[in-house]
Amino acid sequence: MKNAELVRRKDAATPRGVGVMCNFYAERALNSEIWDVEGKRYIDFAAGIAVLNTGHRHPRLVEAVEKQLGRFTHTAYQIVPYASYIELAEKINRRAPGRSAKKTAFFTTGAEAVENAIKIARAATGRPGVIAFSGGFHGRTMMGMALTGKVAPYKIGFGPFPGEVYHAPYPCALHGVSTDDSLKALQHLFKADIDPKRVAAIIFEPVQGEGGFNVAPTDFVRALRAVCDEHGILLIADEVQTGFGRTGKLFAMEHYDVAPDLTTMAKSLAGGMPLSAVCGRAEVMDAPAPGGLGGTYAGNPLAVASALAVLDVLESEKLIDRGAELGQRLMTRLESLRPRVPQIAEVRGVGAMVAVEFRQADGSPDPDFTRTVQNRALEKGLLLLSCGVYGNVIRFLFPLTIQDAVMNEGLDILAEALTR
Ligand SMILES: Cc1ncc(COP(=O)(O)O)c(C=O)c1O
Repeated sequence: MKNAELVRRKDAATPRGVGVMCNFYAERALNSEIWDVEGKRYIDFAAGIAVLNTGHRHPRLVEAVEKQLGRFTHTAYQIVPYASYIELAEKINRRAPGRSAKKTAFFTTGAEAVENAIKIARAATGRPGVIAFSGGFHGRTMMGMALTGKVAPYKIGFGPFPGEVYHAPYPCALHGVSTDDSLKALQHLFKADIDPKRVAAIIFEPVQGEGGFNVAPTDFVRALRAVCDEHGILLIADEVQTGFGRTGKLFAMEHYDVAPDLTTMAKSLAGGMPLSAVCGRAEVMDAPAPGGLGGTYAGNPLAVASALAVLDVLESEKLIDRGAELGQRLMTRLESLRPRVPQIAEVRGVGAMVAVEFRQADGSPDPDFTRTVQNRALEKGLLLLSCGVYGNVIRFLFPLTIQDAVMNEGLDILAEALTR
């Protein structure tokens, strides 16, 4: 089967709203490489949008899922429970930031984890309001969209959204928003829009994913914690993209020395199987009444088996440290190219969560150059993802298991795409 034929069939059979980046179709994949139906090989710096920190088809994950396939694939945890769900919850409770006793509930997608974190926060506080940040991305469900701080393409034509959601600017020095600006805007919301005593939660990404890999400054995160403590608001860290080893720690919040009340996670949690979770302070997590949380597929046994293997692999292969080393190598390479690429406005990141932002000579965002780099790289067989409110950032999401030779090959293609 040829790619062109599949593109034609896709256009006829599936809606354009499910936007597809590549015009080639996957046949198989292994670790950091994908082969298409015509046999062309690609180096995968997209990793299924940050899902494959442990790479495609890691043998330990495949073994764990196969073993589970031979036992049972679905019982609905809320009907007939299984021990692996508890085991994974226990492990996450031990590893998630914060010293207080914790509990974890499993779901399927990142958006579902976010929805449930808000439900739990509302149930625990008895308050309706939620504050999120511009540039943030929290999913494609109704509450996910309401919280998301990026209109195109996520919110166009889909409103009205759930009420009582407010946005403050996320600090970003490059775009002229300081921690102080952001915190003042938050205080302004409390004056102009909602009494802080009616706010259930503040939700934020420690490093904005879709928003451009903007890293939250330490003073900002600590100030958010203080604001929450002052007003009895719960702090939710959305670690769907930052989680599971990407930033040089298992959770990005470990960089800040403050704990959120609730953490959402998904993506690399189960290495390609659909699984998400909300972990939080035990008494907060216990606020919803029995039956209020869950879902038919929530905590699917195949996905849970895969997640348990992910935790083992991260530890036994020391992947979190390796990710930080690879991220450093990438940042050094990008910095070295800077003199030859005037479009580079900033190279930033934490651990392996690295991005490069492009701007034009007049300082305005350069989405055209971003697309050009992405297209040139793709022609040479390197898959890159863009992000940023203006689509002018390239983010790097290579598996942390990538072989040195493949990483170097990818970096060479990237250098060529940037400088040609
Ligand atoms: C920070 C964050 N939250 C939530 C989501 C939504 O996750 P999902 O696409 O699995 O629903 C994403 C997805 O990119 C994300 O990056």
